[in-house]
Amino acid sequence: MKIIKVKDYNEVSKKASEFVINQIMNKPNSILGLATGSTPIGLYNYLIKAYQDKTISFNKVITYNLDEYIGIDRNHPQCYYQYMQDHLFSKVDMKQENIHIPNNDPNKLNENANIYNDALKKVSIDLQILGIGSNGHIGFNEPGTPLGNETFIVELDEQTRKDNMRFFSSLDEVPKHAITMGIKNIMKSKFIILMASGKEKAEAIYKMIHGDVTEDLPASVLQLHPNVVVIVDELAGSKL
Ligand code: F6R
Repeated sequence: MKIIKVKDYNEVSKKASEFVINQIMNKPNSILGLATGSTPIGLYNYLIKAYQDKTISFNKVITYNLDEYIGIDRNHPQCYYQYMQDHLFSKVDMKQENIHIPNNDPNKLNENANIYNDALKKVSIDLQILGIGSNGHIGFNEPGTPLGNETFIVELDEQTRKDNMRFFSSLDEVPKHAITMGIKNIMKSKFIILMASGKEKAEAIYKMIHGDVTEDLPASVLQLHPNVVVIVDELAGSKL
């Protein structure tokens, strides 16, 4: 694992964007694995800027998102499908057919998890963006998730629901389930960038890097991946 410690959230975003911009410049048809949540928003803004400056184009880029909530429909502002449109896809020249986000149709959840997993098995993600939960989750692989899991339906941890309450008007509104890539899918990526900002991530970042590799802190599995860059700001890296 390579650790890059920078000053603040803006620098985390900028540093991550340099890797992604290089990736797209070197391979315009790159397959990117994307995350949602608050962490990658600054990165997406830098990517939009690079597109506007004509430094990169997304017209050959293919994307696979890590996860999607279950129980809210695709038009809900907190749905990750909508989030991606709002924060990146509608602002660059992405082709809609190159966008992959798990389908959360409540009538076909297991079928959709299998379809997404089959699609992931056929590709090799060039660069995977990850955030990290305060409980050490990556994607929505919550503590206790078997490290060999592929795409599956997860019951969200109470801590995750509380952390994500800030996006909803009450805890009751935060979905209880999600569909997520499994650790095995994530570990298949050629290159992984994990970004973290803020003091609430400091403990998880410390354990991810210095703790045992354990299901109790799913991000610790990244110690076993040969090509991971962790970009943290001063607060998220304060225990290192
Ligand atoms: C989102 C995802 C999650 C988030 C994590 C951190 O697609 O997979 O693992 O990266 O919950 O969320 P934020 O960035 O909101 O702190």
